Amino acid sequence: MTLKLKPDWAGEDWLSKLVNLLIQTKPIYTIMKQQARQVLIKTAEKNGIPWRQTYQALEASDTKAYLGRNTDPTLVYPSYYQVPFHAYEQGNLCWSAAFEAESATYAMALRVWPQEDLTWETAQQRLRSSFHNVLANYGPTEVKNILDAGCSVGLSTFALHHYYQSTQDHLVHTTGLDLSPYMLSVAQKRDVNREITWKHGKAEETGLPNCSFDLITLQFVIHELPREITQQIFVEAMRLLRPGGCLALVDNNPKSPVIQNLPPVLFTLMKSTEPWSDDYYTFDVESALKTAGFEHTLTTASDPRHRTIIGTKPQG
Ligand SMILES: C[S@@+](CC[C@H](N)C(=O)[O-])C[C@H]1O[C@@H](n2cnc3c(N)ncnc32)[C@H](O)[C@@H]1O
Repeated sequence: MTLKLKPDWAGEDWLSKLVNLLIQTKPIYTIMKQQARQVLIKTAEKNGIPWRQTYQALEASDTKAYLGRNTDPTLVYPSYYQVPFHAYEQGNLCWSAAFEAESATYAMALRVWPQEDLTWETAQQRLRSSFHNVLANYGPTEVKNILDAGCSVGLSTFALHHYYQSTQDHLVHTTGLDLSPYMLSVAQKRDVNREITWKHGKAEETGLPNCSFDLITLQFVIHELPREITQQIFVEAMRLLRPGGCLALVDNNPKSPVIQNLPPVLFTLMKSTEPWSDDYYTFDVESALKTAGFEHTLTTASDPRHRTIIGTKPQG
């Protein structure tokens, strides 16, 4: 059997084109979107994730008051970001997306090991550890400054920060950067010990100083981006990293048999709620890293659905 490089439902294959046609048919798309949402919430709650409860608690809290301090009024949102995403009309730029992000992330981790009877807490822990383990073996040895780009509500940021804080014998300073001030507000609300610096900004144009980080991560971010933006982020990461520092990304693995064999309902739902999906599945990430000046250190299937890729900034 030959190894498939990507799923048939992505890119230019007939199956992909057929699904795209369905998605472009507005009445069908509207129904699909609503169904996707209902299936997602029902399945999550059946698995013990308190989806609606979390939403209501955030809604009733003072989180909305954090918006101002997490908004850079000079920032211009790029057009690729101002499109419907994950069944939200305003994409990541709304409270619904931010209040549901945590539950949606827990549900995503459960889908990685569908054959095992894991709790959502264990699945989330496994998801993060599988990435940290790759970093431990192939990432930078000394880590003082970390940037988690596309941090969303901070789940990836807290996990990464705590991991390095427990393995390094000095203080670790971590910054979480995101384009959504709504996501950042939830992240800041969750940061009761004020461990992280939260920054509203574009990963491709951060405004942060040259050579100021040992590690930059992009966790489940680039499948949501057009390839030319990912390329620009790699160039920016090259500028931000110290020599010997690493850019590490974890995301859907196009070669994963689990992803390639997703049932039609699931891949159609995925495609219908993620506008840059086709672009991602046909993008040569390793070549893009090299083009930006990185040494490609490693690509590995870090769990059954995701791959971790590490690029290192050459010394001197
Ligand atoms: C799927 S979420 C990331 C999840 C998070 N890293 C985790 O592992 O739990 C993708 C995030 O990337 C952010 N994002 C998308 N494009 C971005 C960009 N160009 N610069 C900064 N953040 C971006 C979105 O706002 C969203 O919060």
